[in-house]
Amino acid sequence: MSADLKVLLVSDQEESLIHLSGIVNEFEKTDNITYRELKTELDRLAPDLIFLIESSDYSNVDWIEYVHSVNTFTPIVFIALSQDFDVLRNVTRAGIKEFFVLPDENALLYGRLESIIHTAIQSKQQIVESAIAQDSFKRGRGKIISFYSGKGGAGKTLISSTFAQTLRFESTAQVLLIDLNLQFGGIETYLSIESNRSIADLLPVINELNESHIRNVSQKEKFSKLEVLLSPRDAELAERLPEGFITKLLRTCRRSYDFVIVDLPAHMTEHTYIALEESDKIYYVLNPDTPSISMLKQVELLFLRLGIESENRLEVVLNEVGKENEIKPGDIKKLLTYPLVAQLKRDIKGVQAKVNVSEPFRKEANEKRLVPFARNIRKWVAQTLD
Ligand SMILES: Nc1ncnc2c1ncn2[C@@H]1O[C@H](COP(=O)(O)OP(=O)(O)O)[C@@H](O)[C@H]1O
Ligand SMILES: [Mg+2]
Repeated sequence: MSADLKVLLVSDQEESLIHLSGIVNEFEKTDNITYRELKTELDRLAPDLIFLIESSDYSNVDWIEYVHSVNTFTPIVFIALSQDFDVLRNVTRAGIKEFFVLPDENALLYGRLESIIHTAIQSKQQIVESAIAQDSFKRGRGKIISFYSGKGGAGKTLISSTFAQTLRFESTAQVLLIDLNLQFGGIETYLSIESNRSIADLLPVINELNESHIRNVSQKEKFSKLEVLLSPRDAELAERLPEGFITKLLRTCRRSYDFVIVDLPAHMTEHTYIALEESDKIYYVLNPDTPSISMLKQVELLFLRLGIESENRLEVVLNEVGKENEIKPGDIKKLLTYPLVAQLKRDIKGVQAKVNVSEPFRKEANEKRLVPFARNIRKWVAQTLD
């Protein structure tokens, strides 16, 4: 009945979902989230139909407005859990056309379901068409992959830039690399890019930001043609970036590229936090030594306190693996609560030869002679693409 609509149920109390369990069975794909998760999950889940179940703190109208602002065309069905004239009047004023008081109006909801589904299918079509018209949506939703570690010098920038460059060479994907080390930068030296253009140039257009703004400001890495948004390398400017800047930037990039690779600094700023929240995947760069492992434990606690979901998102990349390490990868694997996705060798010779002359690791696709570090990355990228 439901075509393949993606349905989102938003509710504060699990019990209230019981009223909707019959409805849920009509759809193949449903996600349940709380209001707290709405801000971070709405854009990522991109539902075709949303059921908002009355929130317990009377903020219904705010939530409706929020959903409208992110997903303008997506139909919303409002579910009230008791007859409350004020609530229903307010949600109607906020633009809700379909609302039901459950369980009393269960039959009514069933009766309307076919028409609700029809509206959702139509809006889905409309969304695709308007996006094509804006030329801001060519390939669907790209993946945001962040590289993070609580420790400086772990290899985040080296790895993220090589990962992005390799991804560009090994696939036909559209790849964008973003340097969010807003204070000091770093990507430009690893990829040998000289330019004064940076993310800061997007500031004046942030409210109408689109793909062509990004392509105008991004720089191309010479060999791979990987697109890169450089850091402004300006601490003061980083502090002045308005609230919502990084969110808008990442969401716009996600619509235009298949992969958005984000290099993050070790310190937790508001910008780092937002980038982590928006990411589909977080690669945590870990060195195989005790200080790095205890740092990961600290980061784990910090994520918990900030409400950054790590389950199914955070994966560990072990960097600088070598024979002389006392702690072996096998021991680390046992300690970790996260999957270990890649092991990169400590390759002092190979890495220094490139880094010291500011040369990227890759020059062309299907290269035969790669240093061990670049070979490790290629293997990992190939697994990612499978
Ligand atoms: N696998 C490796 N083999 C050899 N040297 C490495 C390796 N990973 C990192 N390094 C060294 O560590 C330095 C710092 O890495 P970087 O990516 O800038 O750290 P972060 O971004 O985490 O602060 C690199 O310039 C390089 O010299
Ligand atoms: Mg760095």
